[in-house]
Amino acid sequence: MKLEEYFDTRRSFVDKGLKKFLEPSNQYPEQLHKAMNYSVFSGGKRLRPILFFAAYETLKQALNIRSLTKVQPAACALELVHTASLIHDDLPSMDNSDMRRNYPTCHKEFGVPTAILAGDALITKAFELLTIIRDSQKAVRSVEILAKAISTRGMIGGQTVDVLTTSGKARSNVLRYIHLKKTGSLLQASMSLACELADADDNVRVTLDNYALNVGLAYQIIDDILDEIGTSDVLGRDPGEDLRNDKTTYSGMFGLDGAKKKAEKILDDTYKSIKTIPNNDILVDYINYVKDRMPI
Ligand code: IPE
Ligand code: IPE
Ligand code: MG
Ligand code: MG
Ligand code: MG
Repeated sequence: MKLEEYFDTRRSFVDKGLKKFLEPSNQYPEQLHKAMNYSVFSGGKRLRPILFFAAYETLKQALNIRSLTKVQPAACALELVHTASLIHDDLPSMDNSDMRRNYPTCHKEFGVPTAILAGDALITKAFELLTIIRDSQKAVRSVEILAKAISTRGMIGGQTVDVLTTSGKARSNVLRYIHLKKTGSLLQASMSLACELADADDNVRVTLDNYALNVGLAYQIIDDILDEIGTSDVLGRDPGEDLRNDKTTYSGMFGLDGAKKKAEKILDDTYKSIKTIPNNDILVDYINYVKDRMPI
């Protein structure tokens, strides 16, 4: 199957799940549900659930969308947490962004208090979805995986160091920590959830864990490059926010060319790391997709 077809079919499958699981906008309190629906259905690429499906189907050794129904709640949980992270990331006290995915950000549209609460509600909804997993042992393990990924040792830890570190102050190991945690953690959770639900063995889990962290690191390095020289159609807003916020970025620390080389090296190593995984085409294509976002 071509990557484009895989992405399109799995993306619409995630969207169907999100529609099914999320309370509709007309449910009381309408303002909150409108804000949640607004941010969830504003054109995200759905990269985390697609990675989750790609790993799950690779491990099950069959590309079969019908086999995904029972793991749809876990895929949707990943996207809800991601959306919450973006709503909070855009807040005036964080990155202070007015636009996201070419629409006004959640707080611009609904106000800061509703945006904070919409983010909180999306995270709790994600955990509610994991309780739908029928095998109770797997459900508990899934809750543990997602909680750790969001935690102070994961995405929240990364976001904290990100907002507290202005450019010029950070060392390269701190920047690596920020990227691995703020972006890598949720991609890592996508893989770990797939491994848990598909009963992967320990060696495969370690390999796919590293794959996800490295893809996350490269994805965020490319995001930094895009923030500097990308176009608004790719970014969903004007470039230059990291500079305005005095952020530490890979392109700021190593130059555009240095950052590009680092991302390429990480992705090349990632290709090699999954050679031992049978029928890994979609996972390989996923790396190509990330690489193709490089604007230079
Ligand atoms: C944006 O993530 C935030 C980063 C981690 C760079 P995505 O690029 O996956 O955003 P959407 O969901 O497709 O808008
Ligand atoms: C966001 O990183 C990471 C998370 C939301 C966890 P950025 O701040 O670089 O993402 P964009 O550039 O706003 O999409
Ligand atoms: Mg940010
Ligand atoms: Mg931001
Ligand atoms: Mg960015």
